[in-house]
Amino acid sequence: EAAEKAGYEHFMLKEIHEQPTSIQNTFAGKLSELEGTVTLDELYLERDEIKRLKRVTIIACGTSWNAGILGKYLFEKLAGLHTDVETASEFRYSNPVLCGEELTIAITQSGETADTLAAVRSSSSYGCRSIAITNVVGSTITRESDSVLYTRSGPEIGVAATKTFTAQLVALYMLAIHLGRIRGVVSANEAKDLIVGMKRLPGQIQKILNKKEMIKECAAQFADKRDCFFIGRYLNYPVALEGALKLKEISYIHAEGYAAGELKHGPLALITDETPVVAIATRGHTYEKILSNIKEVKARNATVIAVADDDDTEIDKYVDIVLRVPSSHELLAPVLSSVVLQLLSYYTALAKDCSIDKPRNLAKSVTVE
Ligand code: G6P
Repeated sequence: EAAEKAGYEHFMLKEIHEQPTSIQNTFAGKLSELEGTVTLDELYLERDEIKRLKRVTIIACGTSWNAGILGKYLFEKLAGLHTDVETASEFRYSNPVLCGEELTIAITQSGETADTLAAVRSSSSYGCRSIAITNVVGSTITRESDSVLYTRSGPEIGVAATKTFTAQLVALYMLAIHLGRIRGVVSANEAKDLIVGMKRLPGQIQKILNKKEMIKECAAQFADKRDCFFIGRYLNYPVALEGALKLKEISYIHAEGYAAGELKHGPLALITDETPVVAIATRGHTYEKILSNIKEVKARNATVIAVADDDDTEIDKYVDIVLRVPSSHELLAPVLSSVVLQLLSYYTALAKDCSIDKPRNLAKSVTVE
């Protein structure tokens, strides 16, 4: 096992470090910077079919569901497609109103999650076409879906998903650009900017990894805390959800991810100097709004840790600690912020001496209901 960990103390840390490569492998050979196009021949979707699409239904569980929320924002913005994100265990027992013209996208790292498989079967029974985003070649979902878009992350051993999550995000960017270009929603120039930005992600992640000691120091803020909140808006909302899920999975700290605008509808009552708040505050059109939310929690004495762009000096005025990410295209920043939050969870769990690769009560793949 020590050999498989390649010198890292845990599989999770090794897998966090593999992200520059796993992202690169996921988009390799598919991006044309010159044309502003993404080639996804494996989808077998005709151009006319793509143009006729009315709706997308994303089905997933756990971390993959969090990726799905980002997918929703991307499909709506880049491809003009109304998108619902469904929790597989709910969807399979609900009464979905589907007419067969919707595209179902199942996101599942393992390709074996029982609820996700059942939910996809249910959507197929309405005649919906399905695409699976999965990391495991030959997994059950690849047989249950009409087509497959692989994340090429290599095997993930740590129970807490890391490299497969960021690769899922990359798969969703590619799919959204592909659909959006054919549907004439995203322009060639916008797509080119995104593609250039995607190609920069591996190098930018490496920069974050090179400065991980700062994140390790910051983790000391959490080790003795019982509760904490992660807040974000728009594309940073799923980042907050995933940051909280990671922390609770491996450090056993009660963590909640919240859409920052919802703070005033409940969570504010819980904010004290004992509840650290992690605010994902990379630049974008909701930046001013998250600053207001940061002020709200600061006024209640919370320690605030912000994830922000490396050239953002404004943020220092409002928060206690800033964890920096290289500045990127607004739509792509979630990949970088997620890496920071993975390291934050990892070092918090390490400080608490938790069983990082095999957290109590959790399984890597949930093949029973
Ligand atoms: C389990 C794992 C999670 C994962 C979820 C969905 O709960 O511990 O890390 O996100 O299943 O798994 P899937 O393989 O469908 O993405």
